[in-house]
Amino acid sequence: MMQRDYVQDLSAKVGQEVTLRGWLYNKRSSGKIQFELLRDGTGICQCVVVKNVVGAEMFASCDTISQESAIAVTGIVQATEKAPGGFELSVTKVDIMGAGGDYPITPKEHGVEYLMEHRHLWLRSQRPWATMRVRDTLIVAIRNFFHERGFICFDSPILTPNAAEGTSTLFETKYFDEGMAYLSQSGQLYGEAGAMAFGKVYVFGPTFRAERSKTKRHLNEFWMVEPEVAFMDLEGDMELAQEFVHYVVGKVLAERRSELSILDEGSGRLVQRCEQVLKPFVRMHYDEAAKILDKYWDEKLASGEELPPTFKRFEYGDDFGAYDEVALTSLYDAPVIVHHYPAAVKAFYMKRDPNEPDKALAMDVLFPGFGEIIGGSQREDNYDVLVSRIEEHGLPMAAFEWYLDLRRYGSVPHAGFGLGLERLVMWVCDLEHIREAIPFPRTLTRIWP
Ligand code: 4AD
Ligand code: MG
Repeated sequence: MMQRDYVQDLSAKVGQEVTLRGWLYNKRSSGKIQFELLRDGTGICQCVVVKNVVGAEMFASCDTISQESAIAVTGIVQATEKAPGGFELSVTKVDIMGAGGDYPITPKEHGVEYLMEHRHLWLRSQRPWATMRVRDTLIVAIRNFFHERGFICFDSPILTPNAAEGTSTLFETKYFDEGMAYLSQSGQLYGEAGAMAFGKVYVFGPTFRAERSKTKRHLNEFWMVEPEVAFMDLEGDMELAQEFVHYVVGKVLAERRSELSILDEGSGRLVQRCEQVLKPFVRMHYDEAAKILDKYWDEKLASGEELPPTFKRFEYGDDFGAYDEVALTSLYDAPVIVHHYPAAVKAFYMKRDPNEPDKALAMDVLFPGFGEIIGGSQREDNYDVLVSRIEEHGLPMAAFEWYLDLRRYGSVPHAGFGLGLERLVMWVCDLEHIREAIPFPRTLTRIWP
């Protein structure tokens, strides 16, 4: 393979000659000296071009290089505090490999809508670059966490014959002569089959929700990781979720400090943010959370503080809305797990607590000042009860026959959860909107580029 030099490896090459290949990120010049910032995907390196060193001709041609031109720059690596990243190149030679043209994204401020229209190019800029590298670390950490604990990676289909998470948010497509197929909203039901075959599995793939929702935390296509474990109850599920979050966020802290520092402009704020979720999680029964929220909103409304027009006052029995989750978690500086939600507002497959038959053995992990990152539950394992739940929810029994087989043949207690990858990326990077947490977001109004 061709010997390559990368910006990320420069610390080991001080004093040596290297050739960096990349693109011109930005430049400034002062008469006889030009500072060209080259980005090669692994980082950014300041390349110092001195007229006396490279000669008048090369110096003049460097002057014409426009932003995002592809270039190969040869020079000697110098350690210096002044340059971003701590190293710079004393340039001996510059090759222009591809002109940058009139690049649409300039160092000036652009609006997010404009940048999203140019997402395919915007990804080259520092903030998206740092964000996607954090995302990559989370993905690798997610896989390693489960792999190290003996979970099998179990891929579920994307084209499915039935709904997993409610019928109102299905994308549908015609499937040959078999009728309608739906894009998977969750791999969980297949994960349950996997758990009965392999004991511990995790599904990790794209999921689809045809929600007409315009919130800052909903995508119509997102990635979800869903562990599913045989012989595990709700308690075990909550423990697994905490251990899992600690592990993956811990990896970001260990491996992506410089990306976090690009995102928080060196303030250290994002490191503190991550450290918050490394604490033991607060656990709270729905009833207790409901009481706290009641008091919270009573006080808010009494204070005369103006609430947004979309605000809806929580009532006992409701699922929590975004405002409730933010309010509740703002009272703690660690994640909060709310468990025992009213069964009536939760999915058909959740088992009910025999001691509180109106409550589901369900839990949500809510992050501080943010809200739901994880949703999970112990699953209904009794055949007859599950049949009546499918009926109550008006779901087509025939489509669930294979799922019911899991209760016909050796049914055991089992549990799992789902974590939305983009929600986690959004939280770790403190992004304004979830659309920046995925390379090419799909939202209600965006399917381009
Ligand atoms: O709470 P949800 O709907 O749960 C499930 O799908 C279960 N089948 C999971 C399981 O038990 N195996 O979704 C799980 C997580 C949410 O907590 C959230 O992080 C994310 O998926 N999520 C979304 N992320 C982005 N955009 C959306 N529209 C999302 N809907 C859910
Ligand atoms: Mg949920």
